[in-house]
Amino acid sequence: MRPFVLVTRRVYPEAIDYLKQHAEVDYAASEDALSAAELLERARGKSAIVSQLVDPFPREVLAQLDPSVRVIANVAVGYDNIDLPAASERGILVTNTPDVLTETTADLAFALLMAAARRIVESHEFVHSGKWSRWTIDLLVGQDVHHRTLGILGMGRIGQAVARRGAGFAMRVLYHDAQPVEFDAEYTTKDRVLSESDFVSVHVPLTPATRHYIGEPELRAMKPTAILVNTSRGPVVDEAALARALRENWIAGAGIDVFEREPQVHPELLACRNAVLAAHIGSASVATRLRMSMMAAENAVAALEGRRPANLLNPAVWESGASRKGA
Ligand code: GLV
Repeated sequence: MRPFVLVTRRVYPEAIDYLKQHAEVDYAASEDALSAAELLERARGKSAIVSQLVDPFPREVLAQLDPSVRVIANVAVGYDNIDLPAASERGILVTNTPDVLTETTADLAFALLMAAARRIVESHEFVHSGKWSRWTIDLLVGQDVHHRTLGILGMGRIGQAVARRGAGFAMRVLYHDAQPVEFDAEYTTKDRVLSESDFVSVHVPLTPATRHYIGEPELRAMKPTAILVNTSRGPVVDEAALARALRENWIAGAGIDVFEREPQVHPELLACRNAVLAAHIGSASVATRLRMSMMAAENAVAALEGRRPANLLNPAVWESGASRKGA
């Protein structure tokens, strides 16, 4: 009998076609999230779930998931929506979609940095409003990007890709992470990154340890001329503190793609003209979102066919053989 796969919401059709070559597909092709109850119901009898970053799998949900589920293939590099230890305890493989979105997300981080520095969105709104009446020497003047200091917090794949862009703009690059990495930039403390950088770009994963990794003390440690960029996960930055920092000019601006309670944005942040805000579009190029959809489908099918998925987050589950019991 062919295995059954649940796809929790709309993905690129190529991924559905691929899944259908290998399994029966229950496709919840909607834009809205399945409730926990719907998810648990639809997961009955499924061997795989293709999920997205907006589908929460906390311990309570995983505890009630039909034991038929052997793999959750998340269409995202981040997997903070899934309680990985709880999934592992239940012998469920979890996969993500790294690498394919690294450069695309770094492009967006740099675009936000440049937009905030050069006031591109304000300028765009000004021109569209029809209020532009004359050129003046200090109309919409912003800050230079080239030859300034770029601070990277979290020097993984995406952090390094942003650092490479900075190097292309002749920037001095400082970074902080748990360990130094092989990269031609200065490894230093989080405090020094915050206090010396003109631009601070955050690329840490969301874990209990990184919730509010940037809060009031960090924002107060930054230069009053500095710009904060966040393309990682919303809760990494304390949004209320950021709104205060922008309103009270502790820092000069921000480029923010991710929010604490998406799609809601803190009302005080919405009111800040010096914040360039995007709708969690870090990986949102057509090519990358298609590749992510395919990669998740391939990870799911590998697990269903008893092959080790390429992007496995809990290899111990694979090694124990727990996910293959009854396969
Ligand atoms: C997007 O935010 C991702 O984690 O892939």
